[in-house]
Amino acid sequence: PPPPPPGPLANDSAILVNDADHPYMSLQPGDQRGPCPALNTLASHGYLPRNGIVTPVQIVNAVQEGFNLENSFARFLVYSTFLVNGNPITNLMSIGDATSATGQNPPAPATVAGLDTHNNCEGDTSMTRADFYFGDNHSFNETRFQNFVTFSNEYGGGKFNLTAATELRHFLFQDSLLNNPTFSMVSPRLFTAYGESVFPINFFIDGRDTSGQLDLDVARSFFQNMTFPTDFYRRNGAISNEGYETVFNAYPIVPGANQGTVNSYKYDPTSATLSEPCKRYTTFVLRNIQSLYPNPTGNLREALNINLQYLFDATVAAGENCTQVFPYGQ
Ligand code: HEM
Ligand code: MG
Repeated sequence: PPPPPPGPLANDSAILVNDADHPYMSLQPGDQRGPCPALNTLASHGYLPRNGIVTPVQIVNAVQEGFNLENSFARFLVYSTFLVNGNPITNLMSIGDATSATGQNPPAPATVAGLDTHNNCEGDTSMTRADFYFGDNHSFNETRFQNFVTFSNEYGGGKFNLTAATELRHFLFQDSLLNNPTFSMVSPRLFTAYGESVFPINFFIDGRDTSGQLDLDVARSFFQNMTFPTDFYRRNGAISNEGYETVFNAYPIVPGANQGTVNSYKYDPTSATLSEPCKRYTTFVLRNIQSLYPNPTGNLREALNINLQYLFDATVAAGENCTQVFPYGQ
């Protein structure tokens, strides 16, 4: 059975993470990389397996050790992602595309297609990746990075900071609204979109620097080159998505989606909002997970139930007081 996730780091101080034990190495044929600049970087430095085929426990350890991501937040992100994009039987997930390296797939409609999979965790309005509708939702996109640069210059004095993050998120929403007929911004993407807006500020700035201003060459190092800057220290003290409320409150939106044409955004009352973490948990289990695994049996059911327990445990650790749901019995 899948082993439980680790607890928080014993020592969460700022330490050198681009160290001699974790050198950057360039990609080998077949190595998987995907939409997350942090996981890509951790794999390229050996905090994760360099081939990009990973277990949930490896991801929790890597994001804690390499970036100081807070434990309960890491666990929720990892188990929700794993349950829809990973292989519960082999306990492996690709941080990029679908690959036979994650083992034999469970029966359809399960997809086990890695982090590139659209609308389970990956979604629209990414800062440096295009919307799925435009063909490639996972590769670094220079045009989008130039927006990141422009907004940092205009609103951050040449750095990416909370003001630049806020204005860029608003721009990206409008851009997708007006250009992507399939644009969607419902849970879980709603949560990850606002978290990711502040992640570069919370995690990509050297831990000895408390300015909250991310240098644009450092940003490119993570987003494009999947490399820690030379001598990079992780942040001091565990943190998660602090700052997201500032981004949201400047330009509040309702969850929803375009209806097959541009600029046809319609409110979706079935989606959790940012202030409804338990509805997020419940709908993720009963909608996203159950639609991929309508009727699992045997080892598959057992593995799903254990991973679902780890997902629920993460909500408890985050202090959310949700009611546990059991789609496959207790
Ligand atoms: C995307 C950072 C942990 C899965 C992103 C993006 C950032 C980021 C900045 C947005 C990329 C963009 O907008 O162009 C981080 C940091 C992490 C972390 C700093 C840890 C400290 C994780 C974990 C998972 C994950 C634990 C899941 C196992 C993803 C996925 C996306 C993504 C699926 C694509 C979402 C999208 O933009 O459409 N990450 N991430 N990340 N991350 Fe991470
Ligand atoms: Mg995306």
